[in-house]
Amino acid sequence: MTDRHFRVWRGDESGGEIRDYDVEVNDGEVVLDIIHRLQATQAPDLACRWNCKAGKCGSCSMEINGKPRLGCMTRMSTFGDDETVTITPLRTFPVIRDLVTDVSFNYVKARETPAFAPPSLAPGDYRMQQVDVERSQEFRKCIECFLCQNTCHVVRDHEENKAAFSGPRYFIRAAELDMHPLDARSDRKEYAQASQGLGYCNITKCCTEVCPEHIKITDNAIIPLKERVVDKRYDPLVWLGRKILRRDQVPGAAPAPVGEGGIPSRGVDGKPLGTPAPAGSSMAPSSTAGVTDVASGLGDGHVRLPEAPPVGADGRMDVAELLATNAGGPSPFGDDQQFPLAQVTYRPPEPDKD
Ligand code: SF4
Ligand code: SF4
Ligand code: FES
Repeated sequence: MTDRHFRVWRGDESGGEIRDYDVEVNDGEVVLDIIHRLQATQAPDLACRWNCKAGKCGSCSMEINGKPRLGCMTRMSTFGDDETVTITPLRTFPVIRDLVTDVSFNYVKARETPAFAPPSLAPGDYRMQQVDVERSQEFRKCIECFLCQNTCHVVRDHEENKAAFSGPRYFIRAAELDMHPLDARSDRKEYAQASQGLGYCNITKCCTEVCPEHIKITDNAIIPLKERVVDKRYDPLVWLGRKILRRDQVPGAAPAPVGEGGIPSRGVDGKPLGTPAPAGSSMAPSSTAGVTDVASGLGDGHVRLPEAPPVGADGRMDVAELLATNAGGPSPFGDDQQFPLAQVTYRPPEPDKD
């Protein structure tokens, strides 16, 4: 048992400061234990979100010494004996109080993502190969801690990108559904590219680095999704193969008619996007008008959302961001908070480019 030095951000949406505390630390404890002891002994009004203390609920996300982590899975033994441990809230989302942030951005993006669309098969006729089950199983491990969303530089320093970018957590959802052999929607890739902002991602792998479930977000979800976008647009053999062999032939999965800008104008049920499906015909929320409007690239009031950078005629994404020199912005929680991926630089897409 020793006393160790901690710095914890205290405040709310109107501002705050980092405060210093000396707290007792025992063998085997994690950062969340220290926060609980701090609440019990010195700061009873310190706000912190947590539930399971087992790395499974995704509630205790915070930044510890500048790195996005789960408080309940960060052992105190990983720090040096004299190291000061600084705890700040997630930076990408608005602070509610102390270490609690408003992560509703993620729930909005979840609602915008069209849900699994069952094919028109009789009960008992559903068949899946084990290999297909295993391929998407990795993505089902997500605990929705939103550490990846918090880390992604596309929105971390660029509030203006949030309208057009769903983030890595929803790219793995799109990839999972795109790999699902029984999903009747055939426009997952178009949706990811046109409305989720897949093209903004420049595969820096920062999201993979912080995922507590060790999901290979970039290698197994984002890169295959990007490859499929390019294949579907530019590879004539893939186009022909899909026509002859693949999911476009599943009963009830008629190819989506293409509307303005190459975005499907009709859903798999043949109805114009935005038409609510009959009750019980598919899982909410994908059948709501708002969701389908977003799927077709339209926001509330049918205003066109900003779109991700397109794939070039040579089949390549614009990777100019990787070469840009302006680094991420300073931390709102103090200049001593250095994000550990400081070498990552990013130039946000110019609104009128292209
Ligand atoms: S790879 Fe980088 S840019 Fe792409 S989603 Fe992950 S953190 Fe964001
Ligand atoms: S993908 Fe990983 S980091 Fe992202 S929300 Fe899920 S568990 Fe958390
Ligand atoms: S308290 Fe549930 S993941 Fe940390």
